[in-house]
Amino acid sequence: MSRIVLGVSGGVAAYKAALLLRAFTESGHDVRVVPTPSALHFVGAATFEALSGNPVSTDVWTDVPEVAHVRIGQEADLVVVAPATADLLARAATGRADDLLTATLLTAHCPVVFVPAMHTEMWLHPATQENVATLRRRGSVVLPPAVGRLTGPDSGPGRLPEPADIAALAAVVLEHGADALAQDLTGRRVVVSAGGTREPLDPVRYLGNRSSGKQGWALARVAAARGADVVLVAANVELPAPFGVRVVPVGTAEELRAAMLAESVDADVVVMSAAVADFRPAEVATTKMKKGSASEPDSIPLVRNPDVLAELVTKRTPGQLVVGFAAETGDADGDVLAHARAKLARKGSDLLVVNDVSGGQVFGRAENAVVVLASDGSATEVPPGAKDAVAAGIWTAVSSRLGTPAEG
Ligand code: CTP
Repeated sequence: MSRIVLGVSGGVAAYKAALLLRAFTESGHDVRVVPTPSALHFVGAATFEALSGNPVSTDVWTDVPEVAHVRIGQEADLVVVAPATADLLARAATGRADDLLTATLLTAHCPVVFVPAMHTEMWLHPATQENVATLRRRGSVVLPPAVGRLTGPDSGPGRLPEPADIAALAAVVLEHGADALAQDLTGRRVVVSAGGTREPLDPVRYLGNRSSGKQGWALARVAAARGADVVLVAANVELPAPFGVRVVPVGTAEELRAAMLAESVDADVVVMSAAVADFRPAEVATTKMKKGSASEPDSIPLVRNPDVLAELVTKRTPGQLVVGFAAETGDADGDVLAHARAKLARKGSDLLVVNDVSGGQVFGRAENAVVVLASDGSATEVPPGAKDAVAAGIWTAVSSRLGTPAEG
């Protein structure tokens, strides 16, 4: 159990802080909510007290003998400020201590994550951008805001990411520190494929696989949090789009191939984490195959699908990194890594992320563990963890191999 301080500043998105609080407590953390006085215009202290089971105060004059303004920050394992308004970011950047939240930020030794939410004009204002740069330079995480519908009829960057996205990213920082969400992918364009293709047999049936898309989702979410412009080519995944990520839905291997080739043209990194069917039925019946009818098949002939990863490798643009995935099991011919090294050589990608799936360890689970093999022969182990933490480890291995970003 970790001690999380949830700072809430005064914006309409404060209502989402209640859901974030819920996500933290359901993960077993002890949460102390510290709202600013203006946050309480949007959500009442009783909501935060009931959901956290802890008292809520906004100023340094409550429980004076407890010296709350010093103790809360000192004892925290993580501080998350969501939403962080333009005013809160300004006060944090200048080191003000005019309420309990800003005093807590000055006494916290632990990682701090700011999750901005405000109108687009306020976010893009040079004053706010300089405050964000200051906070990042000092080691805090400041997530980029989501793009989308704001409070009024307008839309643009400034939305608070969904509580599930914030909770997943906060868990990465709690486990691995602020560096796990470094801004090392700023200005990079990243294309990730996720999920599993479905190859139709007839209008109602398909050949599919057990990929849930969760690892691809985590890769996209963490890349966006690290500053990248992310496109997620998603094969049959029902999950809500991660914040700041453009999702291109596809069904079959052929559709996935077309989307990946189109999206990867100007990408810095292309990640093939989707489980692509190697074969598809040679013919797709136009009407449903029925038992005991002329349409009942004796067998289903299959033909090979294109190898999308291999094609992306041959069409790689200068400086582009192509990352493959391999789900392997050891057998009489070799262990997991031996098979993976052979696959890396065969596919020709720059990196291969290797999952040991012996005994069905990975599919649909929240936890994962991988080794990142590089074409230079190196192997980087990413320790077991939640899929977002594994994604952060993978991006660290990838970003260390990226060249200098192109101008413009
Ligand atoms: N892949 C692909 N197109 C395919 C099959 C796989 O792009 N038709 C990609 C996957 O997205 C993954 C990598 O290739 O990044 C490895 O997939 P895997 O199924 O393990 O490789 P295969 O070439 O199918 O190897 P094998 O079946 O021999 O293990």
